Amino acid sequence: MREFPITAIRSVDLGVPDITRAEAFYEKTWGLAVAARVRGAVYLRATGRDHHVLALHPHPSAEILSVSFRVRSEKTLEQIVAAVIEANGRVIDPVGPNIEPDGGMVVKVMSPEGYVLRFHYGDALHDQSGPRCSYPFRLSHVNLNCADIEATNRFFQGTLGFQLTDRSRAMAFLSCNQDHHAVVLADSGLNGLNHVAWMMPDLESVMRGSGRMIDQGFPIGWGVGRHGPGDNVFAYFVDPFGFVIEYTAEVLQVNGDYQPHGPEYWVWPPGRTDHWGIAPPKPDYVKHAQLAIPFPTLKSDNEDSDLLFSRAESPNSK
Ligand SMILES: [Fe+2]
Repeated sequence: MREFPITAIRSVDLGVPDITRAEAFYEKTWGLAVAARVRGAVYLRATGRDHHVLALHPHPSAEILSVSFRVRSEKTLEQIVAAVIEANGRVIDPVGPNIEPDGGMVVKVMSPEGYVLRFHYGDALHDQSGPRCSYPFRLSHVNLNCADIEATNRFFQGTLGFQLTDRSRAMAFLSCNQDHHAVVLADSGLNGLNHVAWMMPDLESVMRGSGRMIDQGFPIGWGVGRHGPGDNVFAYFVDPFGFVIEYTAEVLQVNGDYQPHGPEYWVWPPGRTDHWGIAPPKPDYVKHAQLAIPFPTLKSDNEDSDLLFSRAESPNSK
């Protein structure tokens, strides 16, 4: 198996307009637990070892503020900086100590397409606690909308070292470890967040977690079903702020021998949307939500590196 410079996807930072409601939802309903509260932000962990898998920040509207990955070595952080600059991306915060509660070293960059990505080394880990039925134990993947999927695909593979595991008509599946995918790129016509998926211990947990969501007023948006590429079980929901979130399990494990299949292979019979053939067609409200969450935009090069939260380009404003 090849050595990836990035070893795992770890967490996402979401901007939410009502952080009290967001904390209550992600703790009591989605199944995470508060790990820390610092400077107005709330950090939530799953049952696995990652310090947190979700950070919630007060924000005027729902946005994906960043996606965090763990890297192989401290040296990798500077290598990523050089590669991102060479690819015409930007460094938002240079390599340095992380002041957030997970600690370690961190660098924050923006890809040429505007995805805000953070790379961590030496971040704090919890003691091993093991999976718990119906509760997420780590992050599984992010699915990113792409205005130019081939350009973004080149960035994630050529600049960050991800490996293509499958390519359907609309999506590219990218791996950085034994999981079939940690990042999925969707040919969507705009850049932003499509959805975030958390890993459940097993199929039973996806079903029981879905039941907990339904009990608390959040119907399944799409699923339960089994995907083609990655072979993972899925159930999609829309959270109180419009983020599309997924419980998943049984993601295909790959090694260096895995042979990607192309769009001609990943074709369903008419009307089918999952491998089992039981998931109803995805409703329009879920499709719309999958296109509604932007990344922040930056000020121009000669201004401060603070993120400018412009609404002018947001799909939410349409
Ligand atoms: Fe997914």
